[in-house]
Amino acid sequence: MPMSLKGRSLLTLKDFSSEEIRYLLQLSLDLKAKKRAGIRGDLLAGRNIVLLFDKPSTRTRCAFEVAVYDEGGQVTFLTNSQMGKKESLEDTAIVLGRFYDGIEYRGSGQQIVRDLAKFSGVPVWNGLTDDYHPTQLLADIMTLMENITKPLNQAKLAFVGDARNNVANSLLIGCAKLGLDFAAVAPQSLFPDEKLVEEMTEVCRETGGTILLTEDIGEGVLGADAIYTDVWVSMGEESQFAERIALLKKYQVNMDLIRQTKNPETIFLHCLPSFHDRNTEIGEMIYQQYGLAEMEVTDEVFRSRHSKVFDEAENRMHTIKAVMCATLAL
Ligand code: CP
Ligand code: NVA
Repeated sequence: MPMSLKGRSLLTLKDFSSEEIRYLLQLSLDLKAKKRAGIRGDLLAGRNIVLLFDKPSTRTRCAFEVAVYDEGGQVTFLTNSQMGKKESLEDTAIVLGRFYDGIEYRGSGQQIVRDLAKFSGVPVWNGLTDDYHPTQLLADIMTLMENITKPLNQAKLAFVGDARNNVANSLLIGCAKLGLDFAAVAPQSLFPDEKLVEEMTEVCRETGGTILLTEDIGEGVLGADAIYTDVWVSMGEESQFAERIALLKKYQVNMDLIRQTKNPETIFLHCLPSFHDRNTEIGEMIYQQYGLAEMEVTDEVFRSRHSKVFDEAENRMHTIKAVMCATLAL
């Protein structure tokens, strides 16, 4: 499928057509096979990439770094830059655009990635903002593709939890664009933004996808090929644990919820990191304060045969590689 995404930024999947998303997914699968075959690439040879992180990360940073090195490029990891403090975003973007062929940014405001793209003149990739996590969606769908035999447009994905966060928004967009049946299973106050739902309902008219918003777990997860959850409190929202626990406790992904899909082959997905035990500082703090040893998913589900979370984490690297190769080289 000949297609060029050269010079494009990935700020939100809204800017990408269904065909373009499919192309990136196929390229990701090809690059994964290439790596598995032990073939080193040079698609990014001579390219310099800067990774700007204003929020913490394990997977996204490492995925970008390994992907660049695999294809022969160079990376700079930048945190604590002058941007926004001593130097305007515009000036910083112009400087980075003079040094680098591509910029990854993780932080809060969606406007930051928009402005970086506008002023730098090079492709900018959104490594997570408060609104979206587009590279995550690609890994999520890639993992689903690896685990189902039916076409994507016959699959159903149910997101259970804080259905208005960055990961849920990107899933809603990606599922709509690819014609999946998407269910947001959450208390009404955490349903996705109405405007986004309206926009994606329009997209579904063309792709055949559907969008269901429901508070009812049984209805929402029925027939799902994938159950997806994310943390109840995203980065930057740490003051909201008490309120979110009260709202989302009954939406915890446990074996009973998995059984309610009535699909014995359903898979469990999570962008990670996840609170499925007490082996983290925050997990332990939540246990001490609220008596909850597991949050959005039980340890049983996390470690069950349904769980594909570590394949999904690996796929971050293949999909991010595809995005960089497609927008810089192919
Ligand atoms: N899923 C994800 O973005 O992980 P990190 O926060 O570790 O990058
Ligand atoms: N919704 C989460 C995703 C982390 C990868 C957050 O923003 O913290």
